[in-house]
Amino acid sequence: MRSRTVASAAIAGLVAVALAACGGTTESGGAGDANAPTTALQTKAGGAGGDVGVFTWWAAGSEKQGLDALVKLFREKYPNNKFVNLAVAGGAGSNAKAKLASDLQNNQPPDSFQGHAGAELLDYIDKGQIEPVNDVINALGGDKVFPKDLLDRLTVDGNIYSVPSNIHRANVVWANVEVLKKAGINEVPKDLKAWMADMDKVKASGVDTPLSVAGTWTQVQLFENVLIADLGADGYSGLFDGKTAWDSDGVKTAVADYKKLLGYANTASDGDDWPVATDLVINGKAAYNVMGDWAVAQFNDKGKKQDQDWTWFPTPGTDGVFDFLADSFTLPKGAKNPGGAKDWLMLVGSAEGQKAFNLAKGSIPARTDIPASDFPPYQQAAMKSFKDDTIVSSIAHGAAVSLAWNADISTAISKFYVSKDEAQLVTDLVAAAKKNQA
Ligand code: GAL
Repeated sequence: MRSRTVASAAIAGLVAVALAACGGTTESGGAGDANAPTTALQTKAGGAGGDVGVFTWWAAGSEKQGLDALVKLFREKYPNNKFVNLAVAGGAGSNAKAKLASDLQNNQPPDSFQGHAGAELLDYIDKGQIEPVNDVINALGGDKVFPKDLLDRLTVDGNIYSVPSNIHRANVVWANVEVLKKAGINEVPKDLKAWMADMDKVKASGVDTPLSVAGTWTQVQLFENVLIADLGADGYSGLFDGKTAWDSDGVKTAVADYKKLLGYANTASDGDDWPVATDLVINGKAAYNVMGDWAVAQFNDKGKKQDQDWTWFPTPGTDGVFDFLADSFTLPKGAKNPGGAKDWLMLVGSAEGQKAFNLAKGSIPARTDIPASDFPPYQQAAMKSFKDDTIVSSIAHGAAVSLAWNADISTAISKFYVSKDEAQLVTDLVAAAKKNQA
């Protein structure tokens, strides 16, 4: 109950996040409320020493490059510490979260783990699995350097429970420039209908699967994009606080549109991770992929250039909306090396760490004091959009719904991928909301 109150307050405040994150005014002062612990951060030059086990799902390929950028700096700044990479492969934490849950359950926590700001982090807080890190956030500059409302998404009862590393946008279409050219497409489609008309043109030009998808979580993300397009930002946000019914006409329209979109897509197997889908665009086997902006790292990794090889636009029907998610790092209860973990958290939250990490990752810094001009064009556009657009929370990436609700939605979407039974999907989504909503 407590966590849900915090989550909806945070959703309401996200417009302010957007303003703050882009250099708008923020209230000064330390993070957390006046009663929060104010212990000064005890740090040792060169680091606390010992192994520092960090758990993420940035295990391979372009995903790992952001982590590597942080690890390089960690080794330079904290030579006493030994970074131990506990990454478990699988985009969106599709395998990692189960392993993490069992490690936490068995009192074998890593020294720090990746968690999504919002509902997902509140799960760990409610279970008492993570410690407050107010001292770290305060030492980093508190809400002078982090948007106050982003900190709210990491806070319960005045205590802040993680250090945010980045902000990703989840409603982006990535497109192959050459394939579009060949199909005679020169304009950004204004809505889903116009986009599907373009997909017909792509098909006519000889590309059988204009849209690429991968395993279940990428389908959940595609579906969330369609929900935003068909319900609008307010209608979509209402799905999480009970204001929008999961069997409303808008959701039914979205389910029908989602089914039509799948009709343009390749056949995915559940084990396909997101790079499989993004690579179909890179290789010209598909024109479009709806993916978070970690896709930028994949284009870079394959030597592909913006405008020349790839282009992007907000998912048609969602222009003016920023589908938000943020990664953050925690201090688990019972961590073997809390001092080393705090060194890691200080690096993750530092301006230098955020610049290096986000340049490699495709996301934008959570900190407000890193100049946009330090970043390439896509990220500059994302920063502007985060400032100007209406912010909504991602389902697939832990911002809008708890781990359990996300799991139930994923099961429903996975079932639908096979059955294509629209009424059943609506029934399953209603049941998932009923089971998990406050
Ligand atoms: C998200 C995560 C991103 C990226 C993506 C694909 O959940 O927040 O940083 O890693 O999954 O794996």
